[in-house]
Amino acid sequence: MKILLLGSGGREHALAWKIAQSPRVDQLFIAPGNAGTAQVGTNLDIKADDFDGIAQFVIDYEVDMVVVGPEDPLVKGIYDYFRGHDLLKHVPVIGPSKAGAVLEGSKDFAKGFMARHGIPTAAYATFDGTQVDEGCQFLATLRPPYVLKADGLCAGKGVLILPTLQEAQHELREMLGGMFGNASSRVVIEEFLSGIECSVFVLTDGQHYCILPEAKDYKRIGEGDTGLNTGGMGSVSPVPFATPEWMAKVENQIIRPTVEGLAAEGIDYKGFIFFGLINCDGQPKVIEYNCRMGDPETETVMLRLKSDLVDLFEGVACGDLDRRTVTFDERAAVCVMCVSGGYPGAYDKGYPITHSQVEGSVVFHAGTAMNEGQLVTAGGRVIAVSSYGATKEEALAQSMKGAAQIQFEKKYYRTDIGRDL
Ligand code: AMP
Ligand code: GLY
Repeated sequence: MKILLLGSGGREHALAWKIAQSPRVDQLFIAPGNAGTAQVGTNLDIKADDFDGIAQFVIDYEVDMVVVGPEDPLVKGIYDYFRGHDLLKHVPVIGPSKAGAVLEGSKDFAKGFMARHGIPTAAYATFDGTQVDEGCQFLATLRPPYVLKADGLCAGKGVLILPTLQEAQHELREMLGGMFGNASSRVVIEEFLSGIECSVFVLTDGQHYCILPEAKDYKRIGEGDTGLNTGGMGSVSPVPFATPEWMAKVENQIIRPTVEGLAAEGIDYKGFIFFGLINCDGQPKVIEYNCRMGDPETETVMLRLKSDLVDLFEGVACGDLDRRTVTFDERAAVCVMCVSGGYPGAYDKGYPITHSQVEGSVVFHAGTAMNEGQLVTAGGRVIAVSSYGATKEEALAQSMKGAAQIQFEKKYYRTDIGRDL
C-alpha cells in the first residue's frame, strides 16, 4: 500500500522509520518531511496543512492511507475534509475529526469533557474577557502556585505557572487582554497538582483501543529540569512508576472513560490520543489531552513498539483494533535531543551537520534540511539520538555517546535524561 505521512519533525521521522519497516508498505511519502524522512521515504514539497495540495497528490498517486503527525491539520479539520470529498471519502485518515481534535484545541472543552465523564483532573474554572474581575476573585480563593492556561493552541507556550497571587492576577489580565491573541480570549484557571508527569499513548478506532508504550519527556532546556520550556529535550520509556497497577488505574479511570465518552458524545475519533498525566501520590490525573503523538516521546515509543504499526493503523481504519496485537520491546529506550545553541530563544540555522550516523543508536532528524548536498541545521531541535539499553542508564549512556559524536556549530544537549526517575 501507499502511505502519506504529514509533518516534518522528529516525531514524523520516528513514525516514518517505523512505518517503512512494515511489509505492507510499498511506498511512503512524507509532506513536507525533513532530511531524515528522505532516508526512509519520498519527501513532497507540500505543507502539512495544505489540504488541497494533499488532496491532489492523494488522488494522482492513489494513496491508500494518510497518517497525520502534528495537531495543526487535525484541529483545522483534515479528517472532515477527506470525509466530505467525493474522491477521498474512502481514504482512511489516521487522526481524529475536527470535533475530536478539540480535546487538544480547547483546554476548556477538555476540562468540561473530563468533568462530564468523571475523569480525574485538576479542579478548574474558565473565564473570558468580560469576567476579568471574577477571575481575579477566583484566583484569590486558591493556594499558590497558580496555573493559568490559554484555552486555544499556543505552540506549547500557553500555560503559565505563577508563584504569587499578584503575578497571577496580572497575567490573567494580560492573557484575557490578548496576550496570545484569540487563543487566550478564554483562560482556564486550574488547581496546581504536584507529582511526576508521564505520557500515555493510545490508538483508537473509536470503539476499541490499544495502549502503546508510555514515556516521560523532559521539557526544560537546562540540566535538572531548569530554565525555559522547550518542545522537549529528550524522553525515556518505560517509566518506572507506570507499574501494571498504576496503568490499570490509568486504563480504568482515564483511557476507557475517554474513549467511551467520545463515542457517547458522537465524536468521530480514529487516531492517537496522548494523555499527559501526572502521578499525584499514586493517583493518575490528566494534565492535558493531545490528539497526536508526543515529540520527543515518539522517538522512544517507536523503538519499543514491536508490532507492525501499519497493521494497527489498518485496525483503526477497519474498526477492528481489538483483533490486532500490540507487543512491546522489554528493553529501555532513551532519546537525547541535540538542539541549536540559543534555543528556545533566538538561534541560527544552516550550520553543516557532520557525523550524523551513530553506530548502536537510531538517529531521528527534527530540524534538518539538505542544502546543495550538505546536511544542515534547520530548526531549534535538530537531531534526536535514540538508543536501546538493558536499563535506562545503559540506553542513556549510548544516546549520550551518539549526541557527542554528532557535530554542528553551537550544539547543545542535556546529559540527565531519565536520571530523575
Ligand atoms: P499543558 O500544556 O497543559 O501540558 O501544560 C504544560 C505544562 O505545565 C505541563 O506539562 C505541566 O508540567 C504544567 N502543568 C499544567 N497544568 C498543571 C497543573 N494543574 N498543575 C501543575 N502543573 C501543571
Ligand atoms: N512532548 C510533549 C508534546 O509533544 O506535546
